[in-house]
Amino acid sequence: MSTSTDDGHPRGRALWERARQVIPGGVNSATRLIGRPYAFTRAEGAYLWDADGNRYVDYHAAFGAILLGHRDPAVDAAAAAATAQIDLVGLGVTEHEVRMAETLREVLPSAEMTISCMSGSEATAQAARLARGVTGRRYLVKVQGGFHGWHDPFARNVISPPERAYRLDPLSSGILPDSLSGTLIAEYNDLESVETFFHAFPEQIAAIIVEPIPHNVGALLPEPGYLEGLRAITEREGAVLIFDEVITGFRHALGGYQQIAGVTPDLTTFGKAMANGYPVAGLGGSRALMENFSSAGGSVLLAGTYNGHPVGAAAALATIDRLRDTDHYPRVRRLGDLMRAGLAEVISELGIPAQVVGEGSVFVVYFVPEPVRGYRDLLGNDDDAYREFHRRMTDSGFLMLPMSLKRNHISGAHTEDDVTRTIDAARTVLTDMCADGFFSGR
Ligand SMILES: Cc1ncc(COP(=O)(O)O)c(C=O)c1O
Repeated sequence: MSTSTDDGHPRGRALWERARQVIPGGVNSATRLIGRPYAFTRAEGAYLWDADGNRYVDYHAAFGAILLGHRDPAVDAAAAAATAQIDLVGLGVTEHEVRMAETLREVLPSAEMTISCMSGSEATAQAARLARGVTGRRYLVKVQGGFHGWHDPFARNVISPPERAYRLDPLSSGILPDSLSGTLIAEYNDLESVETFFHAFPEQIAAIIVEPIPHNVGALLPEPGYLEGLRAITEREGAVLIFDEVITGFRHALGGYQQIAGVTPDLTTFGKAMANGYPVAGLGGSRALMENFSSAGGSVLLAGTYNGHPVGAAAALATIDRLRDTDHYPRVRRLGDLMRAGLAEVISELGIPAQVVGEGSVFVVYFVPEPVRGYRDLLGNDDDAYREFHRRMTDSGFLMLPMSLKRNHISGAHTEDDVTRTIDAARTVLTDMCADGFFSGR
């Protein structure tokens, strides 16, 4: 990234320049490297302030971890109360952890038992190990476009370019080929692509893992029968069905997207929104499966210094309490519907070949002419237009990650006025993009 131009963000840029001397690339996660605005100093409700004093309506929401709005007073108070009482002990159990597991069992009936860790990647790593450990089988199946954390078994085939989609497309160097080849790549909304693997590798597939809505490539929506079909196939084949609800969990319903879909997986991973930005994640499932962890005498190692941290547990309990006590879900769905309808109207007025999709609080504009079913349909997405739309919206004060296929989130703190102003800004941005020749060749 060039460092020479003055782009109107001198303070943020200076901090990032400092960061680059001591943090690789100046950021602690590669997808945070977006250029301006480089650094942030304040967060509150639906808003973020950058280091140069500009305010943004935040739809990035820390990749979806912010659910109620930044610095929700009830969640922050619960976390502070926990720190006033106890910190990390690392022996036995604390009441916070027990209450969190009990509460999760209430809101997520498939999670008869849960383990708690710090990040979604740890949760999905545990899920992969557990599935392989219990079945004694080698293969895992994921869909092209699904992201399940940065660790070896799943670090392949997310936003793959056409020439590598469905083929070997590692997210990183340094992964043993054997680990990559142990994960097979299917197509979302295509049960046949899954059946093919079960025919090719009979009794060798340990698990299918799927985001019920693959939000890592925007918002692919499950067609009727798809999730049910995955359930039926895994049951028939003795494989484990893992719903990775790290994004969809708590965001779309207290009981995860599985509650909306009416499909019960064997294992569920969750994280992000569950504690409104505090670091906590976990894995839940039936007692029969979960008691295979070494903590219960089983053979699958359960370890982690920070597992069950009281602060994360307290924040999760307070977040869940807030979700139970308020009209959060109907409210953000109404705002989401308003946003999607408003953006669709602008796009139709301007004759742009695009699709506005989403679920509940999540909205996405794909720059493709036809409705999208699976990743194959996204290969024709106009990535330049997508990035440019998000870049110009961000520069206008509406923070949307300027990378292709990234989704946007409405939180409990956004208002109808925020949504209306966003649609107005999108009208200006898309009109300008038309004038600048985007979409003209399509
Ligand atoms: C669906 C899904 N699973 C797992 C992860 C990994 O979570 P974390 O970044 O907390 O390790 C992510 C992160 O974006 C995710 O979107």
